[in-house]
Amino acid sequence: SYYRAFIAEQRYLMYLDGLKMTLLVSLLAIILGVALGTILALMRMTAERRGKSTLLSKIAYVYIDIIRGTPTVTQLLIMYFVVLKGVDGLIVGTVTFGLNSAAYVAEIIRAGILAVDHGQMEGGRSLGLSYGQTMKDIILPQAVKNILPALGNEFIVLIKETAILGYVSIVDLTKVADFVTSRTYEAFAPLIGTAIIYYLVVKVLTLVLGVVERRLRQSDKR
Ligand code: ARG
Repeated sequence: SYYRAFIAEQRYLMYLDGLKMTLLVSLLAIILGVALGTILALMRMTAERRGKSTLLSKIAYVYIDIIRGTPTVTQLLIMYFVVLKGVDGLIVGTVTFGLNSAAYVAEIIRAGILAVDHGQMEGGRSLGLSYGQTMKDIILPQAVKNILPALGNEFIVLIKETAILGYVSIVDLTKVADFVTSRTYEAFAPLIGTAIIYYLVVKVLTLVLGVVERRLRQSDKR
């Protein structure tokens, strides 16, 4: 691939591999992030239900606080050089961004649930439904409208944020552009071209997200 950088006709293969890495890490990370984020949100929500903080809610709070209070790139360096030393780049990237995203996803889910009017829980409970039933059948179906679009945005954030993967020599799209620039002394085309590729990927996702959002709102009388 050192050689491929010099052959103009072969360079697209490097960009393709880089884009693949960018999208793969982002996709695996959002899956991991949603799974862990849901657990963290449930842990935090035990405090809302009890009316006072619980051990679980405290643990979740500390985790979210630390992840959101430190730079993602620092977390990546810690993962690469300390926690997952010697582990394959794809795994380091996926775990780092999955653990990072989980903290943001937890807040997305919690905020999405809390945004549903209080009266909905009271209404469910006064009809004789349990807390769990009300949550599942009344609150969550409404919360999904807040949560899904925000998760889409989080995925877009990940696609852009993974541009720091090159810091630990994981070859994502941005790292390819950086590599080609350093080998060919030509900076304009690789870097502007890469920016355009990100922009197009994000644009497509934004358009898809807009459609999903409108569908979700269809049942609302607004
Ligand atoms: N770049 C910022 C940081 O390093 C924002 C990260 C946002 N990450 C996310 N998964 N939403 O802290």
